[in-house]
This record gives sequence, structure tokens and C-alpha cells, in this order.
Amino acid sequence: MKRVLSGIQPSGQLHIGNYFGMMSRMIQYQEQNELYCFIVDYHALTTINDRELLQSNTLNAAMDFLALGLDPEKSTFWIQSDVPQVTELTWLLSTVTGMGLLERATSYKDKIARGISPNVGLFSYPILMAADILCFGGDIVPVGKDQKQHLEMTRDIAQRFNKIYGDVFVIPDADINKTLQLIPGIDGQKMSKSYGNDIPIFADEKIICKRIMSIKTDSTPIDDPKDKNAPLFQIYSLFLDEKEEKKLESRFDSSGLRYGDVKKELANKVITYFQPYREKREYLENHLDHVTQVLKDGAQKAAVEADKYLTAARSAMGLNYAK
Ligand code: TRP
Repeated sequence: MKRVLSGIQPSGQLHIGNYFGMMSRMIQYQEQNELYCFIVDYHALTTINDRELLQSNTLNAAMDFLALGLDPEKSTFWIQSDVPQVTELTWLLSTVTGMGLLERATSYKDKIARGISPNVGLFSYPILMAADILCFGGDIVPVGKDQKQHLEMTRDIAQRFNKIYGDVFVIPDADINKTLQLIPGIDGQKMSKSYGNDIPIFADEKIICKRIMSIKTDSTPIDDPKDKNAPLFQIYSLFLDEKEEKKLESRFDSSGLRYGDVKKELANKVITYFQPYREKREYLENHLDHVTQVLKDGAQKAAVEADKYLTAARSAMGLNYAK
């Protein structure tokens, strides 16, 4: 059995692009593999310096995952900062990480280009991420394309450590889903909260409907075939099985299709699809003690594993005097 591990950014309100792009796939992993999953609030601190915002984003992200089916009985699920062992490992790893490696990080350069004023934490972000993975012996790390370089850096750091100090760390493999289609937002660009083109999952139903009704469509005359690459078709098909998708295709090809009708249907579909999850989410919101307990248990389980790798690294480096 492989150990699948991934860290999730607590980035605020969840949308259907997050769900179909990453979360549903992650949650599937718990069935056949050992899943380790955590919300990366230490990482979030590199760009958020607001206690309330950080806490609410973190807790919301945790509740989103639990509501959408992450099962703490089958997997290990925790908040990154509840297992502070990773920060010690970050220090140990930083001493085998070349400056040049970090200086080449495109994600760091992108963030600066977008106007984020960099702190040291942002610069060493990839080492913390390497520690996240190596501290738990992750074999497979499902990430988006944008994280490919970070994964390569993790492998570099682990290999360098192992070469100097002996075989302590598992060398992880990235699992980048190439077949995953880009999920468009309501304007046809990639769906992203920061573009304001997303369809949120747990927002008020009125807001969800409003977003869906404003999906961008063209002015093809009603009796002409409609564009199946348009966001309306693409978003709708996320909710359809093969047979249903064929049916929608033929409706798009035939005359008489009104975009407005399709949007109304889609709004219904989205609301119905997420209804059970919404109920679970509401339950969790009203039972925060339960959520906290789940996270605490997860952190305890994760810490046992972290201690193993941290102790091994410390003793390989010659740091165990008081033992
Ligand atoms: N950097 C990742 C992202 O932005 C989040 C992350 C932090 C992560 N630690 C990780 C992902 C460890 C996988 C494994 O999405």
C-alpha cells in the first residue's frame, strides 16, 4: 500500500473547480491507499498576517474536506501547525539545501511579480514543503502542475540528505493528473476565486444561482448548433455521466436550445449534487467540538509518524545528546 500525502492551502471559499480538480481525487485515494492530508497554515502565514482570517480559512478548509467525504477513520487528517515537528525538520533540511535551488523557484518569482513583498518564510517555502512530505514518508504526492517544481526540489533535498547522512528519507513521486481538463470559470478563463469567476459550493443558494445564470454565452441564433467548448457545456458536463453528456451534446447540436433553460437546469443540478455535503457541512459548523476533536486525533496520529523520521534525521546528523 502506498502512502499518499498532500497539503492543502486554506484559501477561503471553496469552488467547484477545487472540488473536481483536486479534492474529489484526493478523497478517492483514502479507499485504496494510506492517505495523509493536512491544511497548510504554516505556509499560509507567508502571505496572511491576520489571525482571524488565518484561523477561519484554516477551519473552513478542514470542514470543507470533512463535509465532502474525507473520512478521518480511513485517513490521517490534521492541521499542519498542530504537528510542529515539521518546522524542526525544515531547519535540518535547510542546511543541505543550496541557495541556488531556492533562487530558481518560479513560484517565488511569480509571487513577487504579483506584488507580494517577500519575507524569508516565502523564500524558504519549498523547504517547509519538503519537510511536510519527508517527515511522514510520503510515497506519492498528488499536486497541480504549478507544484511540479516544488516536488522536484523535495526530491533533490531528500537525495542530498540521504547522500550525506545515509538513507533516512523516502524519495517521493509527484502525481500530476495530466488528463484533468482545465475547469473554466463563468467567463471561460480558468476558474479561480481571485478572478471572481468561480461557482462556490457552500455559498448561499441565491449566490450560486446568480453565478450560474451569468455564465458567459455567445449570440448564436437559437436554431443554430451551439459551442460545446463554451464554459456552459464544460461546467455542466462535470456533473454528467457519459450517457447524460451525449444527450447534452445532441441538445447543443440541435435547434431550439435556449441557454437560459440550460443554465436553470444546471443551477438545479449543482444545488442537488452538493445538497448532502451542504447538510454535512452545516452539521459540522454546529458541532465544532467534534471537528476540533477529529483534528486533534489526526495530529496525534501524524505526530507519531513525524517523530520517527525526525528522530532518524537528528541521529543521522549527530544531534541526540540528551537521549
Ligand atoms: N504548496 C502547495 C500548494 O500551494 C501546498 C503544500 C504545502 C503541499 N505542503 C505540501 C502540497 C506538501 C503537497 C505536499 O498547493
